[in-house]
Amino acid sequence: MAHATPSPAAFRATAGLSGRITVPGDKSISHRSLMLSALAVGTSRVEGLLEGEDVLATAAAMRAMGATITRDDDAVWTIDGVGVGGLRQPATALEMGNSGTSTRLLLGLVASHAITATFTGDASLSKRPMARVTDPLSLMGAEFTTSPGGRLPLMVRGLCPAIPIDYRLPVASAQVKSAILLAGLNTPGITRVIEAVPTRDHSERMLTGFGAALTVEEDIDGTRTIAITGEAELRPQQIVVPGDPSSAAFPVVAGLLVPGSEIVVANVGLNPTRAGLYTVLRAMGASIVPEDEREVGGEPVADLRVSHSVLRGIDVPPEIVPSMVDEFPILFVAAALAEGRTVMRGLEELRVKESDRIAVMAEGLRAIGARVEELPDGLIIDGTGGEPLAGGATVAAHLDHRIAMSFAVAGLVSSGTVTIDDMAPVATSFPGFATMMADLGAEVVA
Ligand code: S3P
Repeated sequence: MAHATPSPAAFRATAGLSGRITVPGDKSISHRSLMLSALAVGTSRVEGLLEGEDVLATAAAMRAMGATITRDDDAVWTIDGVGVGGLRQPATALEMGNSGTSTRLLLGLVASHAITATFTGDASLSKRPMARVTDPLSLMGAEFTTSPGGRLPLMVRGLCPAIPIDYRLPVASAQVKSAILLAGLNTPGITRVIEAVPTRDHSERMLTGFGAALTVEEDIDGTRTIAITGEAELRPQQIVVPGDPSSAAFPVVAGLLVPGSEIVVANVGLNPTRAGLYTVLRAMGASIVPEDEREVGGEPVADLRVSHSVLRGIDVPPEIVPSMVDEFPILFVAAALAEGRTVMRGLEELRVKESDRIAVMAEGLRAIGARVEELPDGLIIDGTGGEPLAGGATVAAHLDHRIAMSFAVAGLVSSGTVTIDDMAPVATSFPGFATMMADLGAEVVA
């Protein structure tokens, strides 16, 4: 999973994108479908699973803790679960690669089982904060030995039975919420998570689908209290994973920015807790038309018809941030080509993603000629009004898939070639990205 040799690629000004592509399965839903299937009693099937490195790390960990997971030639995954409470002690360290979601959610699962496990990760993951999950899980009785700063590698000793807690999230984080709910699955009594701002709700939807006793109450001010009753018994499911709106974001923005483009990005999940980018782009003047709106696996899905559009800068309302937290790198690229100024604030969480996405994007965008002001909590970008960026530089991906893909799109609207020093991290979430972009007509030099 670690990439010893970097794999650079260059992206060049492109005439006009056209065609239809289907984006791979949703990363968040894929992780959860493997975890919950592995905890059900019986055999679940998952179609449309994202076969990216992050999700494969989750699959390997669930296997190491006792689940039987296989894939057939039609890419249907079959999971024989061990039952809630049935996870076994892994024989070796759990290798999480680049995946924060695998790490934080699995820490929750292990916390309420009588298991001692070591979690390791790559250089990016080993810099990311884990106290946000180890703090509440310690209140539930788990014990942690972490590296300095509360980071990976770390060792967790779970407690069974664990202690139910009521926990108000100090940061808007679906990973923290999910870690606590997953710990609550095997904890007798009611575990409650209170979130002031709604974050992606895939865990709540899927836990309910598997038969867990889970309730969600919303106050008039929008605060949500999610309560799960343990010890739960999960029933096996047939799951179809919708396409990932966070992956679709890259071809969608490419289609908007490259003059003369008209493309269809099919199978895009549009759960309202995930679809903030599309709302913001439309407010900037983007032509993104949903076609064949339908439900896949209990989530709203559509094919998005995208046509080249002249975008206008806006002030992005901070309250929309949680529903597009992964989409800011590509929105920064859109803002760099828009008419006028785009102000994006309230983004402090971006500094602790796979890289410091505020600093890394500011640096790379400047290197290719964009006008960017960096703030502690965001960026202000003065766009070109549709004129190409200068390009002609190599930018560093910093082991961050979304940085790599964002600069790939920027290369398509730059006069000089944009080289990404390492595209390998893209395999964590969007295998086949460069080929798919090339199929749409993008000038890619591998
Ligand atoms: C995720 C939640 C988000 C997101 C990540 C996936 C999830 O992280 O950035 O890519 O699947 O729960 P935070 O919970 O840290 O915001």
